[in-house]
Amino acid sequence: MTGEQRLIEALRKAHSVCVLTGAGISIESGVPTFRDPQEGLWAKYDPAKLSTPEAFEDDPALVTRWYDERRLSVLKCQPNPAHIALADLERTVRDRGGSFTLVTQNIDRLHQRAGSSEPIELHGSLHVWKCTSTGRTFLPGPEPFSEYPPRSPSGSLYRPDVVWFGEALPERALERAWRAAQWCEVYMVIGTSSLVYPAAGLTEVACESDGLTAEINLDPTPMSERVDICLRGKASQILPRVVTAVRTP
Ligand code: OAD
Repeated sequence: MTGEQRLIEALRKAHSVCVLTGAGISIESGVPTFRDPQEGLWAKYDPAKLSTPEAFEDDPALVTRWYDERRLSVLKCQPNPAHIALADLERTVRDRGGSFTLVTQNIDRLHQRAGSSEPIELHGSLHVWKCTSTGRTFLPGPEPFSEYPPRSPSGSLYRPDVVWFGEALPERALERAWRAAQWCEVYMVIGTSSLVYPAAGLTEVACESDGLTAEINLDPTPMSERVDICLRGKASQILPRVVTAVRTP
């Protein structure tokens, strides 16, 4: 039996599934990964340097413009067959009374637009912005902000509700993700280099637990040797094939 067949068999029976996704699942929707050379204006900036509280402190106009341009460009992208397959799998597992937990490092909300319900967003979302003085969040409309940095009526700065380097991940989100990875019968890690913690730690927890673990990724990662099943290739090709087989009696 191939690794893919083992994964399909396990998913046909599983009553608890946990999935962790990264930028690799959105690349085929046209969303550049974090480490791709940025296009155009941003080619001369290091994204990792723009995604920090210090960068926002130093130049809030530059940072908020960068995030707003990413937000607007992501709005033009569509979920790809990998996002859609995961939403189908979620419905299939839940229809049999099982639990399905989707955890993502992505901030593009393409999972939600594909039909996944309440993914755990470990790194926040481009589409949610918050007031730096009250912490109140809101969803900006589909047009660019009128000024950078955008300000609240009281004059406080708005910032994207994403996790910047050096910032803590949302505690409750992390706990829910940890528990799901620890107790699930099948764990899949898809489209992530598994280099950034604590998110990458989720796969370590799953590998040390009793469930079946599978990686679907274009390139090898530090987790490739640790998971039970390693499927090398594009998520948009592998996932629809796997989910179609799971849903075919
Ligand atoms: P990376 O860009 O580090 O890794 C993307 C992974 O996807 C790579 O391992 C690719 O091999 C794989 N990949 C590319 N195309 C693929 C495809 N079509 N199908 C399947 N896999 C594919 O992105 P992440 O691992 O998500 O954190 O990065 C993790 C975090 O690093 C980000 O969330 C961000 C960044 O620092 C924060 O912003 C806090």
